[in-house]
Amino acid sequence: MNNMEFNKIFAAVLLAGIIAMFSGFVANKLVHPKDLKEDAVAVEGGAVVAGAGPAVEATAEPILALLADADLDKGLKLTKACAACHSFDQGGPNGVGPNLYGVVGANKQAHAGYSYSGSLNEQGGNVWTYAELNKFLWKPKKYAAGTKMNYIGLKKPEDRAAIIAYLRSLSANPIALPSAAEIAAEAPAEKPASEESAQ
Ligand code: HEC
Repeated sequence: MNNMEFNKIFAAVLLAGIIAMFSGFVANKLVHPKDLKEDAVAVEGGAVVAGAGPAVEATAEPILALLADADLDKGLKLTKACAACHSFDQGGPNGVGPNLYGVVGANKQAHAGYSYSGSLNEQGGNVWTYAELNKFLWKPKKYAAGTKMNYIGLKKPEDRAAIIAYLRSLSANPIALPSAAEIAAEAPAEKPASEESAQ
């Protein structure tokens, strides 16, 4: 009798164990923990971007410190996104947008024979300094609401640095790289509006 009781209990425990194992196995087959994990990462990534959005959106991140070591080949590759509208060679034709040879350090809206919107100098003075190009290429429409440049912009600071460094090289006399003092003085991503207009 005792033995019988024991056998019953043993059988019940064994059965419970088997059921637990089996349902785990089935659940695994049905849900695929790996997918779940990947989904979770994707969601997390999205959430991080969304969360960081408003702060990063305020102004373009600084790039002056990145220019000296920027990757010119990468810059050249990135100009593919501009080539539908811009030529880059000296004396090249204006297209939808003006030819961009020598644009770094040049006056804004100054390329001969091109009819500009007139809105590019509404902020930040009349010269395409590194800092102005950084802000413009980050979000053209935010920089100049009335601009004719229908281009979304370059989100990554490294990409803007690479393309601006490449644009700088398109000149017989490239302007000087930013000095250590200029780099140190470059405003952080969220600078007060008063400073912005003082430039
Ligand atoms: C869809 C066409 C288009 C694309 C793509 C485009 N641009 Fe432009 N770009 C324009 C137009 C149009 C203007 C003139 C803007 C105005 O007058 O408001 C312009 C103006 C500029 C200027 C100012 C030039 C000056 O003489 O003042 C710079 C610098 C510039 N673009 C850089 C770029 C770079 C770098 C890229 C690629 C990352 C790019 N653009 C992509 C159309 C484009």
